Amino acid sequence: MKVLVVGGAGYVGSHTVRLLLAQGHEVWVYDNLSLGHRESVPAGRLIEGNLTDRALLMQVMRDKEIEAVMHFAAYALVGESVQHPAMYYQNNVIATFELLEAMRAVGVWRFVFSSTTATYGQPETMPISEDTPQNPINPYGFTKLVVERALADYAHAYGFGVAALRYFNASGAASDASIGEDHDPESHLIPIVLQVALGQRPHISIFGTDYPTEDGTCIRDYIHVEDLATAHLAALQKLQPNSVLQMNLGTGVGHSVQQVIEACRKITGHPIPAVIGPRRAGDPACLIADSSKAQRELNWRPKYVSIESIVETAWKWHQSHPRGYSS
Ligand code: UFG
Repeated sequence: MKVLVVGGAGYVGSHTVRLLLAQGHEVWVYDNLSLGHRESVPAGRLIEGNLTDRALLMQVMRDKEIEAVMHFAAYALVGESVQHPAMYYQNNVIATFELLEAMRAVGVWRFVFSSTTATYGQPETMPISEDTPQNPINPYGFTKLVVERALADYAHAYGFGVAALRYFNASGAASDASIGEDHDPESHLIPIVLQVALGQRPHISIFGTDYPTEDGTCIRDYIHVEDLATAHLAALQKLQPNSVLQMNLGTGVGHSVQQVIEACRKITGHPIPAVIGPRRAGDPACLIADSSKAQRELNWRPKYVSIESIVETAWKWHQSHPRGYSS
């Protein structure tokens, strides 16, 4: 299939691009490189452009005879979304509508969308299934939920076939360490802990040890970025006109912050000093996926089931790219 990957120079997008190419798809990456990395895009596949440039999007889709769009381009930091909601609604919602309208104008109907566990807010019951009510508690979650709802309407009214994939905590790196996670500034747990092991930070700060969990630290469901990529390909094959797929993507196993740090100590052999700090605003205590729907309907299974195996790939990436893509 001829696939336009919007935001394909970013973390999850770049890993999906690799897999699409490996499986014989014709892939074009559309990215403005505001957060993405040129180095992560295979040679000759990058088209630089903004999501708000509807005319360019239409031209690209026509010229390249695009049959499907995967949309990864978004801001995705909860705290930042609380401080700068306008930026989030502008980029994640308004700009996304430019993309959808460009697709509608040229008749492209297949759409795979990066959604998030943040659309659920703080559910009372675990694990989280697709039937769990979506009550986001921050602007980031709202922006993704707005687009999910719009996609259902576009499917119904305009014949789009859409998949909204609700990621839990994307983590790890390509198994050959050629691409991986590189955010500036970095805010995610595993890369920060590994930066301590590399000697780039003195310690990891644990954001709260008074949560109602076994060891008092927050629990998350860490899902390997290559497993996310396989789910995207499976969803792409499943798309039908006038249809909506909504799937949680996680392993179904939760790990506390303490357990993640312990796994990193084991893999790196570094003592990784930890300092207990206050809670980070907006962090839910526990988020674990029920991904049985994706397993059933996409015939998808995460390959990386242990936290150690995920950290191992991230560690290889960070060791070989201690300064990320600018190494
Ligand atoms: N944490 C620390 N210290 C750090 C960084 C993180 O203790 O220096 C903790 C956080 O408090 C949290 C856990 O580690 O409990 C994981 O934090 P991340 O920042 O790695 O990930 P989040 O769970 O906050 O964020 C993820 C995605 C977001 C998404 C969010 C939805 O990265 O895009 O889940 O809840 F919005």
